[in-house]
Amino acid sequence: MSSTLFDLSGKAAIVSGAAQGLGRAIALSLAEAGADLLLVDRNAAGVERTAGEVRQYGRRAVAATTDVSEPDQVRALFARLDEEFGRVDFLANVAGESIMGAPEAITLADVEQVWRNLVLGRFCACQEAGRRMLAAGSGSILNIGSIASVTALGRGHIAYSMAMGAVVQMTRELSTEWSSGGVRVNAILPAQVLNPSLEQRIAESPPLAEQFLSGIPAGRFGHPDDIRGLAVLLASDASRWITGAIIPMDGGNLAMNAGGTPRRKT
Ligand SMILES: NC(=O)c1ccc[n+]([C@@H]2O[C@H](COP(=O)([O-])OP(=O)(O)OC[C@H]3O[C@@H](n4cnc5c(N)ncnc54)[C@H](O)[C@@H]3O)[C@@H](O)[C@H]2O)c1
Repeated sequence: MSSTLFDLSGKAAIVSGAAQGLGRAIALSLAEAGADLLLVDRNAAGVERTAGEVRQYGRRAVAATTDVSEPDQVRALFARLDEEFGRVDFLANVAGESIMGAPEAITLADVEQVWRNLVLGRFCACQEAGRRMLAAGSGSILNIGSIASVTALGRGHIAYSMAMGAVVQMTRELSTEWSSGGVRVNAILPAQVLNPSLEQRIAESPPLAEQFLSGIPAGRFGHPDDIRGLAVLLASDASRWITGAIIPMDGGNLAMNAGGTPRRKT
């Protein structure tokens, strides 16, 4: 990138979910803009592969196999960050997955696991990064939410929607608490971005593709690369007065208010 506004040279970023999909795309975009990276995923082979790709940009990459739903592992990760990089300028909380189930049937253990993965995991990483960024007087955090953060989807998304709603409030609260300390916190809410699990769901039920696309005015699914520009913007000084923002990345879905599916009586 030519403009110094978007230059991340000398900055250290930590990206979870970096083995594939949105996390990998964010990591590569930050590397291209000049950042060194601590890459995190519980998929060891995948995160090593992304680290290799980051090094091809001439940047430093350290791969960590961490389960972000385990706070002890997240704390150990930040201890490693201190040793390896000694600073953190940007955190991207991306890792996550859902367990689907109808509200009347899903187990509380599954609801709790989704909450640990998406809410506790993101918060613990925010807390660890935030402490370091407040001490340094600057930093930027990106939480990945979902259109399910602000709109109901139906189709068994109850645990995911409750967790992603919390991610938006986490973002707003942290930006309110930390902005005067130089720490910005923003969220991106994607609609359907192609990834292996989405592709599998569509393969199992092909009409889903048309149903999803009818809710995306842009007329196509998202691609992980669609997040690259936003990631660099939020990591860079170009967004220095942007905090607490909840940014849809959804091909127009939320504007049309069309993401969900009501259950019909059979
Ligand atoms: N793809 C979409 O349509 C979409 C839409 C809205 C929100 N999101 C959210 O964006 C994020 C990334 O989505 P994606 O499409 O890149 O998904 P993906 O499934 O392609 O990648 C998710 C990555 O997170 C890792 N991961 C999952 N749980 C983890 C854990 N507990 N600890 C460490 N790593 C873990 C996986 O190993 C995987 O590499 C997720 O939080 C997802 O909920 C995705």
